[in-house]
Amino acid sequence: MGTVLIDEVTQEARPAELLVDLISRTGGAIPHVCYHPQLGPVQTCDTCMVEVDGRLVRACATVASEGMRVSTTSSRAKAAQVEAFDRILSNHLLYCTVCDNNNRNCTVHNTTKLLAIDHQRIPFRPKPYEVDNTNPFYRYDPDQCILCGRCVEACQNVEVNETLSINWEAPNPRVLWDGGSTIGESSCVSCGHCVTVCPCNALMEKSMLGHAGFFTALRKSALTGMIDVVKALEPETGLGPILQVSEAEAAMRDHRIRKTKTVCTYCGVGCSFDVWSKDRHILKIAPEHGPANGISTCIKGKFGWDFVNSPDRLTKPLIREGDSFREASWEEALSLVARRFSELKEKSGPDSMGFISSSKCTNEESYLMQKLARAVIGTNNVDNCSRYCQAPATVGLFRTVGYGGDSGSISDIEQADLVLVIGSNTAESHPVVATRIKSSHKLRGQKLIVSDLRENELAERADLFLHPQPGTDLVWLSAITRYLLDNGRANTRFLDQWVGGLEQYRKNLEPFTMEAAARITGLSVDTLTTVAEMIAAAKNVCILWAMGVTQQSQGSDTSTAISNLLLVTGNYMRPGTGAYPMRGHNNVQGASDHGSMPNNLPGYQSVDDPEVRARFEASWSVSLPSAKGLDNHQMVDAIHQGKLKAMYLIGEEMSIVDSNSNYVCDGFSKLDFFVVQDIFFSNTCQFADVVLPGAPSLEKDGTFTSTERRIQRLYQVFEPLPGCRPDWKIIQDVANQLGAGWHYQHPSEVMAEIAALTPLFAGVTYERLEGYKSLQWPVAADGTDEPLLYTKRFAFPDGKARLFPVSWRGPQERPDAEFDLHLNNGRLLEHFHEGNLTYRTEGIREKTPSVFVEVSPELAEERGLQSGTWVQLVSRYGQVRVQALVTDRVQGRELYMPMNSTENPVNRLTSSHTDPATNTPAYKESSVHLRVLGEVGLSPLPRTNPRFGHPTPQQGVEVERKWKRPDYRPPGGQPVATRSK
Ligand code: SF4
Ligand code: SF4
Ligand code: SF4
Ligand code: FES
Repeated sequence: MGTVLIDEVTQEARPAELLVDLISRTGGAIPHVCYHPQLGPVQTCDTCMVEVDGRLVRACATVASEGMRVSTTSSRAKAAQVEAFDRILSNHLLYCTVCDNNNRNCTVHNTTKLLAIDHQRIPFRPKPYEVDNTNPFYRYDPDQCILCGRCVEACQNVEVNETLSINWEAPNPRVLWDGGSTIGESSCVSCGHCVTVCPCNALMEKSMLGHAGFFTALRKSALTGMIDVVKALEPETGLGPILQVSEAEAAMRDHRIRKTKTVCTYCGVGCSFDVWSKDRHILKIAPEHGPANGISTCIKGKFGWDFVNSPDRLTKPLIREGDSFREASWEEALSLVARRFSELKEKSGPDSMGFISSSKCTNEESYLMQKLARAVIGTNNVDNCSRYCQAPATVGLFRTVGYGGDSGSISDIEQADLVLVIGSNTAESHPVVATRIKSSHKLRGQKLIVSDLRENELAERADLFLHPQPGTDLVWLSAITRYLLDNGRANTRFLDQWVGGLEQYRKNLEPFTMEAAARITGLSVDTLTTVAEMIAAAKNVCILWAMGVTQQSQGSDTSTAISNLLLVTGNYMRPGTGAYPMRGHNNVQGASDHGSMPNNLPGYQSVDDPEVRARFEASWSVSLPSAKGLDNHQMVDAIHQGKLKAMYLIGEEMSIVDSNSNYVCDGFSKLDFFVVQDIFFSNTCQFADVVLPGAPSLEKDGTFTSTERRIQRLYQVFEPLPGCRPDWKIIQDVANQLGAGWHYQHPSEVMAEIAALTPLFAGVTYERLEGYKSLQWPVAADGTDEPLLYTKRFAFPDGKARLFPVSWRGPQERPDAEFDLHLNNGRLLEHFHEGNLTYRTEGIREKTPSVFVEVSPELAEERGLQSGTWVQLVSRYGQVRVQALVTDRVQGRELYMPMNSTENPVNRLTSSHTDPATNTPAYKESSVHLRVLGEVGLSPLPRTNPRFGHPTPQQGVEVERKWKRPDYRPPGGQPVATRSK
């Protein structure tokens, strides 16, 4: 704290507070254009000049310190501010009334008003460049660009895609993509950071253009005419009346533009943002206050929403008639569902039925689905798709530290000194988490080690990239843990105080010598030693992992080995440390948390605990089954065995995303009765007897829980399309048709019930989650949450963590003479999962139109392939026809196929092998034979995919280059003190 005199009033500054923040926080009005709190000082605009102890300085680059005397209004300060802003206006045509950015938040407009600029002294000078419209989602208008550099800073240092720069030395500087490419052919990944932070209309979402204003849809010639009229008036009237007219127009917009907070429907990062909408048109996605993401998004969250208004949406229930479906009323469909469920329950018992909840649906919906299964039907046969990805990580954490969730927050990953990423393509699967790592690595010297089969973006950036033999992560993790223990590099104080089971664990580690690990993994002893020493040397370590670890036949054991390593090195219980299994779907964490699991009621309360059951039985007035139910993998087997007769599945494309999909589809075709609830007629719907039209996240209220255990509210943006119903209502309708007598009017009532029954969520209320507020479980009854777990104890009765011994068995399937290639699979940045949602966004299709198989240059040469060659991949379980993409991201005889296809899904090739602890399929243990089909088409990835761009990394906007221009003179005429970031 320090006492600062601002315009003769004493103010208390916070530690390291910038003057610009202090002045704004204490009610002052200081112009500032390039400064953005989430970007820090950019220092390009010079409009924030203040006088400090007689010298002009930039308020955005000056830290408030004890005894400072600051004047924001001295004549020198004012003159400098106006002079700086005049220069800005020479780069920007003020036509606010006919501008789609005239929404009360335009920094240029607001600063013109704040500085009471009446006449523009430096005339506007158009730049000699065309508008760039080549990106499907946004456009750049050089004439409106004020060269503030916010976009460059965001792209270089927040998103760290390093596409943008400004050519400060050019006669007419502008923003450049890849140093001078069109946007469409650049490395731009369409994350939208730059558009989000642009303070004016130079970068704008195309979905805004012609839609936001009352007069902005006019033809270009009419618009130009209006702008000319306004310009002609300005010398006489001054800018004041012109701004007033535009403000009246902006006020009119308030009545028709809605801004509704939601949480992203795609991955588990949990980005939240406002959806700006006009009727059913999405004007833009505006991230600003999200506790997980701030201003950040990826292409899907920022631009991937066209599916909501797709004409393909299901809007009527469908009932099977022979080989086709007919439309039906809700009454008919619901009564058919109830009748068939009742008959089957009567005839074959409740355990002849299975329920699959959706990890895209809300927590409240997941809770109601398991309540329907347990309390209305009487079976524990309920599961969700975390079985396919995250269950092994949850088991690994339950074994060792006690809670099945990330041990800290994304901010901990950001703060770590060393991040170890194992089997996670974070930059594509959890893009906003990756931005934090890239930024800490670039700007703060964070160390990064990546272990993967594929050289993904983080691997390219890493200090050390490990490429072990497939399925051997457990071995090298255990070997370096043993090395650390054997060489006095373990954290013995932490082990003594907080960890049990060391003796037994050390015995278990005996086979894991460095030499044995080198033999099995293919990594050298030197490399392994380097990894171990880097971990030992780092003060704080976070480990991230994902499906590359969990979708192996020892996914649970490898997850356990990760947690064991963190315990041995004392990397829990402190900020910047811990275990981070990256949750895939937006609500995969919440679906399990809320009881859509065969063994657990909500909050991981075991179904075989009589005390727990008694609590739920008293509340629900039923008696509950006590035996663990079938998980989704076992359900498919039970269908084949004739034991499971009926299924109710919500929002999962299970016939494509489950492993060995031919076997799954075959099972579905044997069901006596199958209800599928979805927003589109998915591939899985083809097997249904009844299809019920649900609603996407933008059409309902509820909560999602992200990867960092963060519970956040989503608010309804649109009414459900006529004919559709929010999924919680449909589940309630089904339950009531079966005589349940539920009366929920709103998801908040469901959450109140959850909180009352579940200690983990005791203090969760909708009020505590209002707007952008969030809670990270466990949440005590008084609302206290735990962003960082285990700060006082581990979640076991004695408060101690447990080292859990694991041994290595090796993959269940390896390449052999017949199936000679290893097939890996995973996500792509642009598409989510199988692509049912993202293919419906035209711009995403344009960038990434179809699936492909990545082939290494060596293999391509050996087999005579090039990008675009059609090949057939054949495994023991099925085959697909797909085009090759030759890339050095993969090596040797390892292939990679993204999962974004419903026509040729990779899961026709994957097996039914599973991790015995969880029944999670070993998706990543597949071997195939590649047959060259001879036809060669165009490359499956167009030239406009960002992979083909050429980024231009630099340290932010590099304003020093602007200051070196011969025509640059600091406003106010004297050199100013600057502060490096
Ligand atoms: S990657 Fe593209 S959209 Fe994202 S900040 Fe950079 S230029 Fe903008
Ligand atoms: S395009 Fe970039 S440099 Fe130009 S005004 Fe927008 S944020 Fe500033
Ligand atoms: S997909 Fe994930 S990273 Fe992208 S905006 Fe949505 S939550 Fe954020
Ligand atoms: S706000 Fe732009 S230089 Fe300070």
